[in-house]
Order: sequence, then C-alpha cells, then structure tokens
Amino acid sequence: MGFRDDFLWGGAVAANQVEGAWNVDGKGMSVADVASYNPNAGNDYRKQVAVDSKKVEEAIKDQSDTFYPKRRGIDMYHRYKEDIKLFAEMGFKVFRFSIAWTRLFPTGEETKPNPKGVAYYQDVIAELRKYGIEPLVTLSHYEMPLNLAVKYNGWADKRVIDDFTRFAKVCFESFSDVKYWLTFNEIDSVTRHPFISAGIIPDRSDNLEQDEYQALHNQFVASSIVTKMCHEMIPGSQVGCMLTKLTTYPATAKPEDVLAAFNKNTMNYYCADVQVKGRYPKLVLDFFKKNGIKLDATEEELKLLRENTVDFISFSYYMSLLAAGDESGLEMTSGNTVVGGKNPYLPTTEWGWTVDPVGLRISLLELYDRYEKPLFVVENGMGTKDVLNADGTIHDDYRINYFKQHFSEMKKAVDAGVDLLGYTSWAPIDLISASTSQMSKRYGFIYVDIDDNGDGTKKRYKKDSFYWYRDVIANNGKEL
Ligand code: BG6
Repeated sequence: MGFRDDFLWGGAVAANQVEGAWNVDGKGMSVADVASYNPNAGNDYRKQVAVDSKKVEEAIKDQSDTFYPKRRGIDMYHRYKEDIKLFAEMGFKVFRFSIAWTRLFPTGEETKPNPKGVAYYQDVIAELRKYGIEPLVTLSHYEMPLNLAVKYNGWADKRVIDDFTRFAKVCFESFSDVKYWLTFNEIDSVTRHPFISAGIIPDRSDNLEQDEYQALHNQFVASSIVTKMCHEMIPGSQVGCMLTKLTTYPATAKPEDVLAAFNKNTMNYYCADVQVKGRYPKLVLDFFKKNGIKLDATEEELKLLRENTVDFISFSYYMSLLAAGDESGLEMTSGNTVVGGKNPYLPTTEWGWTVDPVGLRISLLELYDRYEKPLFVVENGMGTKDVLNADGTIHDDYRINYFKQHFSEMKKAVDAGVDLLGYTSWAPIDLISASTSQMSKRYGFIYVDIDDNGDGTKKRYKKDSFYWYRDVIANNGKEL
C-alpha cells in the first residue's frame, strides 16, 4: 500500500506571485498588477484586493512597483533556471505553474500572441523536461488581462469566453507536449473575490451577486470549450477542474448546526459538481431561484457542460472551519478568504488559518466518494514568518511537522482506496501572498531574500524542510 509508484510529487506557484517582470517583453497589465500591499486585510476578502474603479484607475496611472508587490514577484521570470534546478534537486516529478495570459495577449483582445511570451513558457517547459519534471499548467490563476476587466467587467460578460478560448488554443498549440492542464484556479472563489478571480469591479455591477454567478457560468462554459479543444489538440491530455476545498464541520451535534455545515459544504461542491457531473445540482438551481439569480445559460452551453467534463479533480486544501445555525455564540476565525467558526481542538497559523491534517483525509475521502474520479492535491501548505540565520540556514521544523502530518493523513486516504495522482505543495519557494501581497508570509522549502518592501538580495536559500521534502520524494512517502 502507500502512494502509487508514479505518484507526482512537486510544488505549485502562480505566474503573478513569482514572475515579476510585469511590464517586460510586451506583457500587458493584469488584475494582479492592481493588487496593492495590504497586510491588514486579514482574511476579509472584500478588502484584499483593489476592488473599486478608483483604485483600478490609480493603479493604471502608477507605473512603479512600490505599492504593488506582485509586479515584482520573486523575479522568477529571470531566475527560472536557478529555481527549477533547485526543484530538481528536491527530486520534483511535477511542477505546477500558470501562464500569465497577459504575456501572450497583453490586452486579451489581440488576434495573434506575443512571440516573446510564447517563447518564455516554451523555455520554462524545456528546462523542466531537462530534469524529467512534468509540467502541470494552470490556464487561469488570478491574472486575467486588466483591459478585459475594465472594458467588460470581466467574466460577467460572455465576450470574454472567446478571448479566453483564443488564448487557450495558443497554449495547446505552443505547449503541445504538456499532458496535465487545469482551467481555472479555485473557480469557486469568484463569489469570494470577484475582482482577482473574474475581473469584476464591484462598483461597476448593478447586481454583484448576479454578476458573480453569471461570471462563474461563463467560466464553466469556457472551461468545457477548452477541455474539448485540449482533448482534440493534445491526444492523451488530462484536464482538471480546481476547487478550493473548504471543509466545514458542524459546531455541535445540534441538528441546526449539522444543517448549516451541510449547506456550506453543498455550496462549496457546486462548481466541481458542474465540472465533473456536467450539470448544475438541483439544490443550487433552487438557491438561484429563491435569491432572484437568473443565469443567462443557453441550451447549447448546457450541452457543452454535459459533454465536456473534466478528467480529474484538483483542489487546494489549507484548513477547515465550523458552522452553526446560530453563529452569534461562535468564536470566529478565518483563512483562505473565508470566515467561519474556530475549532477549539485545532491550532492555527500566525495568520489564523486552522491547521487540520485529518481534514485533508476527510476531504480526499469525501471528494472520491462523491465523484469517483482521480484526485490531485495541487495546493497545501503553511504561510509563516521564517528566520534566515547568519550562516544561511533556516530552521523550519514547524513546516516539516505540518507536512508530515498532512502526508500521513493523505497516505491513509490512499490506503482507504482514494485514487490520488499527485501532490504539489503551496509553494515550493517563497512568493508574494495572493491575499495580502506580503512577502513575509512564507510558504517555501526555499527561502527568498526579499522583504515586504521588495528590498533584499533575491538570493535563494535552502530551508531545513528542503532536505526533508527531498527525502520524502526519494522514498515516495514511505518514511515521513
Ligand atoms: C490559494 C491560491 O487560495 O491560496 C494561491 O490559489 C494563494 O494563489 C494560496 O497564494 C495561499 O493564500 P495566501 O493569501 O496566503 O497567498
């Protein structure tokens, strides 16, 4: 028993959190280039990114990276060879990264791609292949062209589907040896942070909730179109959906609390239901009806959804929360852009995210039981402050402990029969936080010497967890 022999161990990043070089070689502005440094945002997702028209205008005028850390990232654009070499040293079998749409189509509306953008990702993939590392490519990870957000209010408008399809086609043509693809990162997050996930500028919406669900529908349609295209253009390719697995427990055994948890989990599953089963769940359609949400969904689109479901289910797992019928008595906490009840049995990270390794096992079992499709954990990790010692070491035993516990639960899920393709940690190297744009919230096995102001040598250092993960990969998780 244990992990399959060809288990894909590795790490995951997103272009906008690592590359930097935001205006280099013809790249256009993306929604990520508007996200300003916001350490106090906590997990109040509505505060986490620049979400009003005024902030967008200010960001367009300010062409420096002073207040916009994602514009500088960790300079992986120029250092990818060095970084991939370090991943190879850990023995990575897979590396998950995203393609910045704006490197290929700076405004999203060009008819031909920017050759420099295409060449860049071809080089990255060639470098991975040099070490036998399988690329796992996310087409859309919080970085759509800003132009499409400003002009159409993002994915709320169906015209964006064509722009995305054109972008995806170029990706399949240009990176045709890539087998594993994900369409939209944490697709369900559109209703939590509509700007970075779908380019919706909330003050431009007359009915924000309606626009969010319409944007989601448009992404489902786009996802089916490109899934079909990928299967046709790259024989043997595998396309996955990507869900934020927000595991919710009832706060007590009270039936009202159990019901509250059921409702939260049902809404969390709904995107995967559409992408895996090819149809909207009835309870969700009823929810739309009751809340006055009218989807513009044609018969042809629903057919596309039915006929082009995904091959595997990928998800991020960071934490779990509690729900109650009456939340007034609950101590609240937050994490990964959701707020919920704090579990008295579990610790939290410095950023308040609940650490729940058993929740990963529960999530794997639930997902597999519900869909009976191969699963892929494509994000899991712990954001902490790390200390770089004078001798260049970083002693992050807390991170080793976190992963050890999660891998042990993952192994138990596999032993129980879950078909798990692989695991990519978030993130193998320190990067800019998606929610707060902090550099000091560090996730990596590799430390990057840059601070929140962007100062530092950019030098990479191996943390203690680097060597530990290398050993885990070498023995395929047999010894943790
Ligand atoms: C996931 C996102 O939700 O959480 C990543 O897909 C993100 O982009 C990760 O970085 C961790 O969140 P944060 O806000 O700590 O960077």
